[in-house]
Amino acid sequence: MLTVSSVKQLREAIARQKRRGKRIAFVPTMGNLHEGHLELVKVARASADFVVVSIFVNPMQFAEGEDFDKYPRTEKNDAEKLNAQECDLLFLPSVETMYPKPLEQQTRVEVPHLSGILCGASRPGHFTGVTTIVSKLFNLVQPDVAVFGEKDFQQLMVIRRMVDELCMPVEITGVPIVREADGLAMSSRNGYLEAEQRKLAPQLHNIMQSLARRIRKGETDFAALEKATAGEIDRAGFKTDYLVIRRVADLQEPQAADDEKVILAAAYLGNTRLIDNLVI
Ligand code: PAJ
Repeated sequence: MLTVSSVKQLREAIARQKRRGKRIAFVPTMGNLHEGHLELVKVARASADFVVVSIFVNPMQFAEGEDFDKYPRTEKNDAEKLNAQECDLLFLPSVETMYPKPLEQQTRVEVPHLSGILCGASRPGHFTGVTTIVSKLFNLVQPDVAVFGEKDFQQLMVIRRMVDELCMPVEITGVPIVREADGLAMSSRNGYLEAEQRKLAPQLHNIMQSLARRIRKGETDFAALEKATAGEIDRAGFKTDYLVIRRVADLQEPQAADDEKVILAAAYLGNTRLIDNLVI
C-alpha cells in the first residue's frame, strides 16, 4: 500500500492507474478504523482494480463545541489494518492541504433541505461540510465507485442526491451497518463511552427493534409511536435527540401504508452522540 499526503502525489498515483484503464474504488473516512470501515474496504476491493481510502478528520463538518479536537487519530494503526485489507493507496492529507484558506472562504457544496433535517437540524452546517469535502475528494481521486455505510443513513442520501444533481460520474454503493455482537452499531465515537455507558448503549438498537416489530404488525399511528419510543429511550438512560419513522425515499413522514420506512435515531449517552437506523 502506498501512502501519500500531498495532492500532487495523489494525482500522479491516480493518473498512473487511469492510464492503465484501471477501475478505481474510493472509501472516504475520518480514520480510527473499525470493522464497519473495513467492510466498506472489502466491498470496494471486490468492485474495482484499485482501492483508495482517505483518512481526514474534516474540520468543516464539526460545529463549534463538537469533538473535532478530541476525535481519535490513530493513523499508524489504521494504515496496518488497511494494508491487511489489500488497500492500494491511502490518502492522508493535512488540514492545510485540503483547506489552504480559512474555512469561511472555502467554496461550498450544499444539498438544501435534506441537509437541514434530523442530524442536520441538530448539527447546523454538518452536511455542507460533508458534501464539500466529499466533492473535493471525488475531484482528486476521480473514482468510478465510492463506498459509504448505511450507518450514516442521512449522509448516504445526501451524497446520492449531490452526485445525482451535480451529475458527478461516480457510482455510489451503500453497505449495511456492521454491529458489535450485542447490537451496538460500530462507531469511532463508541470509544468515548465509559464502561457503564457501553453496557447501556445497545439498548438503543433493542428499543428500535421493538418499535420495528410494532410497525411490521400494522401499527400506523407513527406520531404516537415516535413519542412513546423516545420516552423509552430516555428512561433507559439516554437523552434522545430525535427518534423518527420516515419514508426511505426522501426521509419525509410516511404518507402511504406501503411506503418503505426507516427508523432513525440520535441519542446522547453523557456527552457522546450515538446514531442508529433500521429499515423496515
Ligand atoms: P466516518 O465516520 O469515518 O465513516 C466513514 C464511512 O464508514 C462512512 O461511509 C460511514 O457510514 C461508514 N461506517 C461507519 N461506521 C459504520 C458501521 N458500523 N457500519 C457500516 N459502515 C460504517 O462518515 C464519515 O467518516 C465522514 O462524514 C466522511 C464521509 C469521511 C466525510 O468526512
